[in-house]
Amino acid sequence: TRTTVGIVGAGPAGLMLAHLLALAGIDSVAVDLRSRREIEETHRAGILEQDSVRLLVDTGVSDRVLRDGYEHEGIELAFGGAGHRIDFRGLVGASAQLYPQTDVFIDLADARERDGGDVRFGVTDVAVHDLTSPQPGLTFTDADGVAQEVRCDYLVGADGSRSLCRRTVPEDSRRQFFREYPFAWFGILVEAPPSAPELVYNHSELGFALLSQRTDTLQRMYFQCDPATDVADWSDDRIWEALGARVGANGYTLREGPITSKSVLPFRSFVQEPMRHGNLLLAGDAAHTVPPTGAKGLNLALADVRVLAEELERAIRKDDASTLDDYTTRALARVWKAQHFSYWMTTMLHALPDATPFDVRRQLGELALVTGSEAGSTYLAEAYTGWPATTAR
Ligand code: DHB
Repeated sequence: TRTTVGIVGAGPAGLMLAHLLALAGIDSVAVDLRSRREIEETHRAGILEQDSVRLLVDTGVSDRVLRDGYEHEGIELAFGGAGHRIDFRGLVGASAQLYPQTDVFIDLADARERDGGDVRFGVTDVAVHDLTSPQPGLTFTDADGVAQEVRCDYLVGADGSRSLCRRTVPEDSRRQFFREYPFAWFGILVEAPPSAPELVYNHSELGFALLSQRTDTLQRMYFQCDPATDVADWSDDRIWEALGARVGANGYTLREGPITSKSVLPFRSFVQEPMRHGNLLLAGDAAHTVPPTGAKGLNLALADVRVLAEELERAIRKDDASTLDDYTTRALARVWKAQHFSYWMTTMLHALPDATPFDVRRQLGELALVTGSEAGSTYLAEAYTGWPATTAR
């Protein structure tokens, strides 16, 4: 097969890129090791920045995001026994949209199918070749067991946090930046009415807890746990006790119900620079990971591919790859802001295992500063609802 852009990874980043390229008249082939069903059933975050919503709506991917999603005009930060609202609408005239990543994926996969896009799920033996040649390639075995070869002009690695594409960049051509955290999140889905109308980010002596929502009858909640936690050790009763104590300390009461999903989410900050190596470009989690606090991961991936589609379109139209380094520059400008924001939200709200009483008091001082000042709240509101797109030079 011959195509213009070969895309490894058909999650939200890969599919959104394929969609934007198709709108510009550029063909692509996207492959993924997972089946469509597997991706649909992996629960991820549920908050979209204002511009992520616009991207989905304005490019014709989804109006379901507006119909089935919920507009949130603020969040609460809860600490020291009470909740404090951050009013996004009042502070920055913006909102966030509660709409799960799994639904973003479903809408994108449906749009690709509707538009006749070439997407292959459930492939095996994926390998990328000749990254720095003008004719890079992609080989894989398709779902029917047939060996396939795709030759293209550009390759995109949108293959997630365990990216194979990232690892094909030679060590002397890349730098990696890491930060590990001594905790993780225990995430659950609950069949119950919402415990609060908006998201509540709880700081407590027992650790962090987040009340989030999905629908009027399904809720998403998280609480800080040890990274080595085994979900099998956590009965529903034990979960309710842990969550209830943390949010109860701040005056919230849980509405309990059957727990339909339990999982442990790892915490990590990671960036690989640059995001281009020859004719291979990295996008989304393949290039960077943020800890989940603040829900930036999916939004960053969408922001990456919006810039990448523009830069690829320019390179393809002019038949000149020399401006593709601009992709790294433009994408990283947002990536490092989001890295800071995710790190900041994480360290402000979690109980650090080696924290001294001074550290805890300092966190409470920081939370009081953020919630008690218009400047502090505005910083959070702006970052949470999303920065404007980095424009082309
Ligand atoms: C959700 C996840 C997050 O990481 C976050 O900061 C807010 C909401 C969620 O899954 O609903």
